[in-house]
Amino acid sequence: MVKICCIGAGYVGGPTMAVIALKCPEIEVAVVDIATPRINAWNSDHLPIYEPGLDDVVKKCRGKNLFFSTDVEKHVAEANIVFVSVNTPTKTQGLGAGKAADLTYWESAARMIADVSKSDKIVVEKSTVPVKTAEAIERILTHNRKGINFTILSNPEFLAEGTAIKDLFNPDRVLIGGRETPEGQKAIHALRDVYAHWVPLDRILCTNLWSAELSKLAANAFLAQRISSVNAMSALCEATGADVSQVSHSIGTDSRIGPKFLNASVGFGGSCFQKDILNLVYICECNGLPEVANYWKQVIKVNDYQKARFVNRIVSSMFNTVSGKKIAVLGFAFKKDTGDTRETPAIDVCKGLLGDKAKLSIYDPQVSEEQILKDLAMKKFDWDHPAHLQPTSPTTSKKEVSVVWDAYEAIKDSHGICILTEWDEFKNLDYQKVFDNMQKPAFIFDGRNVVDVKKLRDIGFIVYSIGKPLDAWLKDMPAVA
Ligand code: NAI
Repeated sequence: MVKICCIGAGYVGGPTMAVIALKCPEIEVAVVDIATPRINAWNSDHLPIYEPGLDDVVKKCRGKNLFFSTDVEKHVAEANIVFVSVNTPTKTQGLGAGKAADLTYWESAARMIADVSKSDKIVVEKSTVPVKTAEAIERILTHNRKGINFTILSNPEFLAEGTAIKDLFNPDRVLIGGRETPEGQKAIHALRDVYAHWVPLDRILCTNLWSAELSKLAANAFLAQRISSVNAMSALCEATGADVSQVSHSIGTDSRIGPKFLNASVGFGGSCFQKDILNLVYICECNGLPEVANYWKQVIKVNDYQKARFVNRIVSSMFNTVSGKKIAVLGFAFKKDTGDTRETPAIDVCKGLLGDKAKLSIYDPQVSEEQILKDLAMKKFDWDHPAHLQPTSPTTSKKEVSVVWDAYEAIKDSHGICILTEWDEFKNLDYQKVFDNMQKPAFIFDGRNVVDVKKLRDIGFIVYSIGKPLDAWLKDMPAVA
């Protein structure tokens, strides 16, 4: 019987392995983690991550061929295929700080695999890693191998949070990279056989190790670049009276461009885009390619500009000060249908408003008060470590930030509303009731273009919608200080 073990029970390890277990009933899958609370949650009715459809898949397999455990060494020792899906944070200190990937967790996982293994294993990189990580991992494994053969594969994950189960059931492609040696090819076939249970063979792409590693970074860089491109256009639309939705639609109908990922917004977030681009930038710099590095750096700069521009719009529209004013923040997750807040633009927007002494009332249907306060207190890049190893920072004052469990509660008596996540429920609020319960003039700053601007203006709101023709009120206000 094939046994799979996945080290790291996070947003990638958990859903990916649950789907493998569902689609391959004859394979035993163990997901292991050093974080006991996370494993306990995977074994409970309240899974540690919110992902549509995930509960169902886990319930069908858990206890049959899907197991969640903290007994990392036992399950690694028993497995034929070991996936490694641990954190790969951006380094905050030392060589490459602020850009390079910190492979501490990866390296410790590799050393542990070498320590506990008693039989040959295929070791699969599932985490997003710098190009040539496989070579480093191979060295660790072979120098400690005690006669055991390890074959390393790169199998980067392309799922998107919020649609992870759908993406895993029906992936655009599965990418498997391996050495061009007989052992490498044999390992590729073994992993391809796992995915072939449900993925058509023509969608399983097999490449060399380095292409697979680089493809993941390249894919995220291209996706983020589309968002920064349309966001850069949104600033120009506001300046010229063009409507970014109309521009996106017009260019998206060109089959060479395509319609997806062209929505203007307050900025991209999530655990991957910024981290992977920084990583790419670092690799370019290390390979003597500063022009290429600068090209990709600009994608992040435009993202930061978009968040700053949004905050400045709010402050300048509200008579150049939000000091002491209640601002309702609707949505904190980095996108809808997930509770994930890693690198969410909401963090920078809220910090910007707090910097101008606003009082925030935040509502997100999937994010807890504890998480929000932690995010607002945490230093850049500190979030990407196993929970118990995250550096502790002073908590955000509850005087300036309240977290509530209802949109209307957040909005009550506020001067302005910021929509920062495109949750469907924000489209369908009773905006007349909202208006009646706010201070006047009542402002809405829509960072996701979810509201019906005309309807809201008819009610009496002053509306700012990213990249849309400006309200007369906003026209003369500076967008960027
Ligand atoms: P995560 O933070 O949710 O999960 C990582 C888990 O690994 C944590 O639960 C942590 O406790 C555990 N861990 C760390 N070191 C360990 C060790 N030595 N032994 C056992 N467990 C250990 O991270 P997430 O989001 O699942 O990402 C994992 C990797 O996948 C990262 O490299 C990320 O860049 C990549 N990725 C993430 C995607 C996403 O949408 N979140 C999509 C594609 C790739």
